[in-house]
Amino acid sequence: MTVPVSLKEVTRVLASYPSEKRYSLAILQDLQNKFGYVPRECLEVVSKALGVKISALYSMATFYRALSLKPRGKHIIRVCDGTACHIRGAPVLLDALKRALKIEPGETTSDGLFTVETVNCLGACALAPVMVVDGKYHSKVKPDEVSAILKTYKGKKHG
Ligand code: FES
Repeated sequence: MTVPVSLKEVTRVLASYPSEKRYSLAILQDLQNKFGYVPRECLEVVSKALGVKISALYSMATFYRALSLKPRGKHIIRVCDGTACHIRGAPVLLDALKRALKIEPGETTSDGLFTVETVNCLGACALAPVMVVDGKYHSKVKPDEVSAILKTYKGKKHG
């Protein structure tokens, strides 16, 4: 879930670490946890505070899957498109999700409820095709089950 960016919060996170380059990743991770993503304006503040190039922070934020430069939804849906899942229908499953949510992988619904991402293998190939919502595995998912799965998350207040 995303929360409004507050410079006070950014300063608070920075103050909890020594002003050294090696804490860059930990700081970005804390900002991610706080705001639900790493806002670009935060990168500038961190860059100045630690004396790290903004391009280096940007690379970090794009390299690590746990970090995101864009606001993410309250619920994160990860669809596996690794070989086993692909063969067993991941593309059709993904199409059903795209139709239901009207977004492409990497995007977030306009109500901020769902973000869809694709991954290469979730290590559960026997359960293919696999879709993970907020860390919960949904196995052998059929396209016509997508709406019912989404519905269970629409009313949830947390996680
Ligand atoms: S290919 Fe999907 S879990 Fe391994």
